Amino acid sequence: MKKIAIFASGEGSNAESIVNYFRTPGSHAEVALIVTNRPDAPVINRAERLGVDYAVITRAELNDGVTILNLLDRYAIDIVVLAGFLLMIPCGLIERYRGRIVNIHPSLLPKFGGKGMYGNRVHEAVVAAGERLTGITIHHVNEHYDDGAIIFQASIEVDPTDTPADVARKVRQLELTHFAPTIAQTFL
Ligand code: GRF
Repeated sequence: MKKIAIFASGEGSNAESIVNYFRTPGSHAEVALIVTNRPDAPVINRAERLGVDYAVITRAELNDGVTILNLLDRYAIDIVVLAGFLLMIPCGLIERYRGRIVNIHPSLLPKFGGKGMYGNRVHEAVVAAGERLTGITIHHVNEHYDDGAIIFQASIEVDPTDTPADVARKVRQLELTHFAPTIAQTFL
């Protein structure tokens, strides 16, 4: 049974979707831990409701080279999944999990990626640019923001009347549909 840790800083809708996906009978993986850097993140409420262990870590603990690695070792984590985690992943963690750490970004990278491009800012930029298409990118994580090898992309039309909130809703649906199966197909 492969063990997954999910890193999230916000709502946790992707985290919940992934937890449930791997709780289906015959699954070969489980979400053993949810890690967040925000003590008030709604993902914590989801973890409690789902009965998944969670840990709140500070930026200092993420970057001290020991705390986060010991935590993941304690849960025998095989795969790290970033789902709306807003801190840069330190090199030591990328080194230890190279090839086993993935991220989801709410645009068709390389468009609308990079530092500072997250959440609604992405959808606002897509609408402002008059894009006719947007989507999601699931990719391996390396030392640069949103730059690792792309594993999967799915796209959706942007209508001229779409607001950033409309785009966010469409993209969210793609995320909840594709992230968990892509993790399974990539690692299991
Ligand atoms: C998603 O839009 C994801 O693409 C991005 O952060 C958001 C996380 O949303 N990386 P949630 O916390 O899973 O609801």
